[in-house]
Amino acid sequence: EKVDETHRTGYHFQPPKHWINDSHPGPMYFNGLYHLFYQYNPKGSVWGNIVWAHSVSKDLINWQALEPAIEATKPFDIKGCWSGSATILPGNKPVILYTGVDKHNRQVQDYAVPTNLSDPYLRSWVKPSKGNPFIDPDRSVNASAFRDPTTAWFVNGEWHTVVGSKRDMVGVAYLYTSKDFKKWVRAKEPLHSARGTGMWECPDFYPVSPTGRRGLDTSALGKEVKHVFKVSLDLTRFDYYTIGVYDKEKEKYVPDLGSVDSWAGLRYDYGNFYASKSFFDYKKHRRVLWGWANESDGEARDKDKGWAGIQLIPRKVWLDPSGKQLLQWPIKELEMLRSPDPRKLNSKVLKHGRHVEVDGITGAQADVEVTFSFRSLDRGADLPAQDVCHQKGSTVPGGLGPFGLLTVASEKLEEFTPVMFRVFKKGGKHVVLFCSDATR
Ligand code: FRU
Repeated sequence: EKVDETHRTGYHFQPPKHWINDSHPGPMYFNGLYHLFYQYNPKGSVWGNIVWAHSVSKDLINWQALEPAIEATKPFDIKGCWSGSATILPGNKPVILYTGVDKHNRQVQDYAVPTNLSDPYLRSWVKPSKGNPFIDPDRSVNASAFRDPTTAWFVNGEWHTVVGSKRDMVGVAYLYTSKDFKKWVRAKEPLHSARGTGMWECPDFYPVSPTGRRGLDTSALGKEVKHVFKVSLDLTRFDYYTIGVYDKEKEKYVPDLGSVDSWAGLRYDYGNFYASKSFFDYKKHRRVLWGWANESDGEARDKDKGWAGIQLIPRKVWLDPSGKQLLQWPIKELEMLRSPDPRKLNSKVLKHGRHVEVDGITGAQADVEVTFSFRSLDRGADLPAQDVCHQKGSTVPGGLGPFGLLTVASEKLEEFTPVMFRVFKKGGKHVVLFCSDATR
């Protein structure tokens, strides 16, 4: 089978060929290795025949591909092994919760465990017939919109997991609890729900520390801990989150005032970034976030080139000191990919409307560190900020800017992809937008 290598990535995770989607299926750290599972079509470069592909890494950058961890073999997952998460149980025992599509096309929740815990790669997984599916949708839930269980957390003597769903246009996070991780019962009320948002795919629910950048284990509680609740809305194809409080007694998540669910809410990313999933990295005590990007061109082109989709650069996430939003940064390990002999360009004065060429970079991908300085950063507000990039593109002024880099530029600049900034001042505070524009 031929694979067109032209635009394959040098920095991002990709299998050698074929279709991928959600990295969501439970990235995890176990006994010295990171495990990445992802939705994969072993037979082609369009969505279908979904299995849990499996790769391992020591550093989240260099990956070794293994055989798929979960394939469609049982009546409870014969039509697909969809997204889910991994949880490490006491005694250092990983378990995967995932959505199986059964022979009647119903979405049920299944589990899988490693067959041999002493294999450091955890190459082989089994889906016991006993206890599977562990959640069967009853009549009160919509069995064709009932999927993507979260990493389980332990509180009040019970395990908890959330399954994404919808009731008409109400997005719902059904809560299930279990004493023994075998028998699961639905809680009376969902953990959370919101009108007008449609299907909640790939929910993610985790604690964040109110200060500092250290991540917390998914089961970490404590008075001062805040919680993040994220959903992927299939109607808009963006990942939205709120910050709020988890009320352990009422088994409810309550977003903070001003932290809104829905299309007006905060996003992890305003570009191509979907079906993300975070995990707590026990090795480095950080919370790491993975997202997936699909292709922007059509299916015909995907078939042609023999591959589709990438996993985005993993990011560390933590709470902004304001408590009102998250901050994120590419994981430190990414810097391993830097050349020991970088291209350098010393200070240049940039005149309005001009550009300066950085020569010596011929590849379509580069890791760049650049500093821009200005005499004054005080330009009027032009908000709502998230719409500005989209509305003004890369040529219409607005705020201070745009200024930045023209990447993948052709010789005569007929084509280029600007990666640029705009700075605004509002109420004495600066807002910085970081945008890209692929229209050219
Ligand atoms: C999100 C999603 C999930 C589902 C999986 C199927 O992209 O639709 O909700 O489990 O992909 O591949």
